Amino acid sequence: DAVDLGVYRHYMQKEIHEQPRAVSDTIEGVIDGGVDVDGLFGAGAMEAFKDLSGALILASGTSYYAGLVARYWIESLAQLPCNVELGHEYRYRDSIPDHRQLVVTISQSGETLDTMEALKRAKELGHGRTLSICNVRESAIPRASKFVFYTRAGAEIGVASTKAFTTQLVSLFTLALAIAKSRGRLSAQAEHDALEQLRFVPGSIQHALNLEPQVQAWAERFALRDHALFLGRGMHYPVALEGALKLKEISYIHAEAYPAGELKHGPLALVDENMPVVVIAPNDQLLEKVKSNMQEVRARGGELYVFADLDSHFTESEGVHVIRTPRYSGILSPIVHTIPVQLLAYHTALKRGTDVDKPRNLAKSVTVE
Ligand code: G6P
Repeated sequence: DAVDLGVYRHYMQKEIHEQPRAVSDTIEGVIDGGVDVDGLFGAGAMEAFKDLSGALILASGTSYYAGLVARYWIESLAQLPCNVELGHEYRYRDSIPDHRQLVVTISQSGETLDTMEALKRAKELGHGRTLSICNVRESAIPRASKFVFYTRAGAEIGVASTKAFTTQLVSLFTLALAIAKSRGRLSAQAEHDALEQLRFVPGSIQHALNLEPQVQAWAERFALRDHALFLGRGMHYPVALEGALKLKEISYIHAEAYPAGELKHGPLALVDENMPVVVIAPNDQLLEKVKSNMQEVRARGGELYVFADLDSHFTESEGVHVIRTPRYSGILSPIVHTIPVQLLAYHTALKRGTDVDKPRNLAKSVTVE
């Protein structure tokens, strides 16, 4: 491969560690120039965003999970209704087109057939306001879109997506700010504060990367298991989904993610002493709810592996393992909490001796149906 591995054993490991750089390159324009909507997304974007009735996000795989996080940001910051759908589901169903919606496709490669076909379908249905968040310049999906924002992750070679995901997230946060601004819902102070938060993200990612030895110790135990559950609530539910996807993709351990509130409606039946349960538990307004879900797990003998930031005040106890993530980074916390779940998947796969960069049966870019 053209890209040198340097000190790393695998591309995936290298790409995980490149995230502070990839994210800061991606947000460079907005940090330096503020939320200049047309400058960031293309001429006419501000006008097109001004009277939106909603956003419809279409994507596949990890990019779809980025969309699920973005829904929280778009609805809370821009106060715009937002739906997120898998491309292959959207394209084959009858939907009611609303031409004042912004159709957002998210794709690392820009060539995923399911996403491309969903975009074509949206255009056939008369959608004109299309925007692509993509990592590969001039690929098919951005070429077919009216507006484009390129993530600057650099080449991603590991099949399991890592730096593409976190750069998509900061791009989508920028999009939420841009929509808010175009709709007159972003005060100068709010813009300033949001950019300040964004500026801290690469440093927080670096802190999260420093947790690697602790995560590695957990991976020793995960490698011996056949199943795992991942729990999160609110905007950390998609992080749980991403953690479960990474683990199954590269370690072949069966992993599922649930919003923690859903435990009692089914997955709790699976919990016993053989089921490790990973919990994303930052100090947000849902923390107390997450804590009571954790008690439900403990009461059934399930072993908890908790990623909790400094302010969550968790202590280790019998069956409760805690790794302290960096201080709570507010609305951008899903980005920071993605890092330890990536590391957990990577080190577990390493222990199991799988082909980390090229997992069986999977392809980096799926251009067939
Ligand atoms: C494949 C890859 C995934 C990726 C998905 C969507 O399944 O293995 O890592 O998330 O495609 O790819 P895209 O390039 O559209 O983001």
